[in-house]
Amino acid sequence: MTQTIGIIGSGLVGKAVAHLAVAAGYHVVIGNSRGPESLAALVEELGPLARAGTVTEVITAGDIVSIAIPLAAFESLPASQFVGKVVIDHTNYYPDVGGFRQTDLDRAALTSSELMQRHLPGANVVKGLHNLGWIHMQHNARARGDVERTTLPIAGDNHGAKGVVARFIEDIGYNVVDAGLLADSWRIEPNTPIYFWPYAPAIPGHLSEDEAKRLYRQSASPLSPTAARKLIETAERPSPVGGTLEGLPPVHVALFLELASAETVKS
Ligand SMILES: NC(=O)c1ccc[n+]([C@@H]2O[C@H](COP(=O)([O-])OP(=O)(O)OC[C@H]3O[C@@H](n4cnc5c(N)ncnc54)[C@H](OP(=O)(O)O)[C@@H]3O)[C@@H](O)[C@H]2O)c1
Repeated sequence: MTQTIGIIGSGLVGKAVAHLAVAAGYHVVIGNSRGPESLAALVEELGPLARAGTVTEVITAGDIVSIAIPLAAFESLPASQFVGKVVIDHTNYYPDVGGFRQTDLDRAALTSSELMQRHLPGANVVKGLHNLGWIHMQHNARARGDVERTTLPIAGDNHGAKGVVARFIEDIGYNVVDAGLLADSWRIEPNTPIYFWPYAPAIPGHLSEDEAKRLYRQSASPLSPTAARKLIETAERPSPVGGTLEGLPPVHVALFLELASAETVKS
């Protein structure tokens, strides 16, 4: 049976997941806070397997509901509508970006996906497809059996839900390893070894702007499941908690922002 992915959030990550899902033959229902009318161009670009909906329609239609909104907006998600749903949580905590701070996250009492699960008690939340940039999400995806296929981690408290999400991520182009429970998911949060860098090509400083942009759109060397497990096992709990753009090579920040704004303008 063809499955439907409901995607809440139509920004960089929502769009990347939608493109990967339709390419793998999934139906997509996508929504944002501005309403389905704002998504006409995106839906046309995605093709006949996709449609836009309200957030309620997205949740109702989704066999899996993908949460691709800023973590700061998590409390706007209508918890009662999520009962029994399998959720993929793509969100990450970036306290420096957007000014959202949460005490339980800051003192490492909760992981960000535990916070999401606490807000959606009737859902089965699985953290996944969160640890690589939207552009690398698209460019690292490879079919099963491809030697260049890389590996992504998931974490969650419900075994069945993890199986459902793993199958989806495998279908759209990745091997999957289990990083444990949501309480363990700090091992795959920002500033851990498996976050971002294993999927981003290195950009040598001497490249021209055009060469750097071209390279940024390529995949990195693939990470085997064994290598991915090792990165997860060797992680140390980051302190302070949360991602930051500080300290990133300027070329990465510039490319990320420029390509992101080009993508935003396109929609
Ligand atoms: N950017 C990346 O490379 C990347 C990679 C991995 C994970 N992530 C994480 O994924 C999440 C999304 O990132 P992004 O870069 O895609 O952000 P983005 O480009 O800013 O898109 C966010 C989307 O969420 C929608 N939205 C915001 N509040 C909403 C609400 N209350 N209800 C419904 N829709 C809402 C926004 O549309 P409206 O304003 O129209 O509602 C927009 O479509 C973040 O938590 C981020 O940390 C990002």
